[in-house]
Amino acid sequence: MSTKELIISILEENKGQYLSGEAIGKKLHISRAAVSKAIKELKNNGYTILSVNKKGHCIPTKSNTLSAIEIKKNLKYDNEIIIKNSIDSTNTDGKRFLIENPAHGTTIIANEQTNGRGRKGRYFFSPKDTGIYMSILLKPELLALENPLKITIATAVAITKSIDELCQKNTLIKWVNDIYIEDKKIAGILTEATTDFESGSIENIIIGIGINFNTTTFPEELSTIAGSIFSEEEYFVNRNELIAQILNEIMDITNDLNNENIIKKYREKSFLIGRDIVFFEKEIENSGKVIDIDDNGYLIVDTISGSKKTLYAGEVSIKW
Ligand code: BTN
Repeated sequence: MSTKELIISILEENKGQYLSGEAIGKKLHISRAAVSKAIKELKNNGYTILSVNKKGHCIPTKSNTLSAIEIKKNLKYDNEIIIKNSIDSTNTDGKRFLIENPAHGTTIIANEQTNGRGRKGRYFFSPKDTGIYMSILLKPELLALENPLKITIATAVAITKSIDELCQKNTLIKWVNDIYIEDKKIAGILTEATTDFESGSIENIIIGIGINFNTTTFPEELSTIAGSIFSEEEYFVNRNELIAQILNEIMDITNDLNNENIIKKYREKSFLIGRDIVFFEKEIENSGKVIDIDDNGYLIVDTISGSKKTLYAGEVSIKW
């Protein structure tokens, strides 16, 4: 382990307590100055360490600051993690970054987005400090991708599994890409791709995930539909832990995209099966009851006129 990693593990073991630079130095057989230099670097890397004169250094028990080091501690894979304090959109930034030929799984995470994007050109509310805004860059040649919709479906399954297990919640998926807790949307997915103009083949996949972690104040227009995993102070896991869990699940699931359990889990978690919905086809309103999601991830609806319809994409709303 490097000096920085050793310092983190000592502070982690004593979370909430101040340890002097001298005490840490003694444990590691290094000088106080070397401890101070390493702590400064750790802080620059985004690690939350409090330093108080005459008391020493401490990792607060309840820290929710984004940190690549903290995320990596719980990562099973070797994803490159890039953290930005404020960015227009991690998906847009991811696209800009493609010129650098990033490795499969490179993940850009922002503490705030000034132009967070949702599906259909909508904006995604992305205030600082309380959300998770991340984009994972994947190389399609490393995936057995037959149907692009499968990526979004697999991501939704990975997110619900992570939130349920780590945050002890019961999430549901509203076809295709929205995650709900108790009738409130708490997360959305925006999957984008870049294609080769001549061959038309997909060259890069960008999975954008936006999660309201402990956002409690929403703009007026979202206040009745948006929710959050936690209330402002109630969280017992932090954003870094949840990000790592989601990344582990996404890397696992995207390595095995044709596993039939993915669509099974997606169905089990469906917020729509059995519900009455309204949908639009060529701007004409129609409605019906959702009876299933097929193996391709398409929505099967019994329409009010009695015919069965398959919806391949698009927005549906629930008839409450
Ligand atoms: C939706 O609800 O329609 C999808 C929302 C996706 C939001 C995420 S946040 C990270 C990434 N960057 C963006 O600009 N959008 C996605």
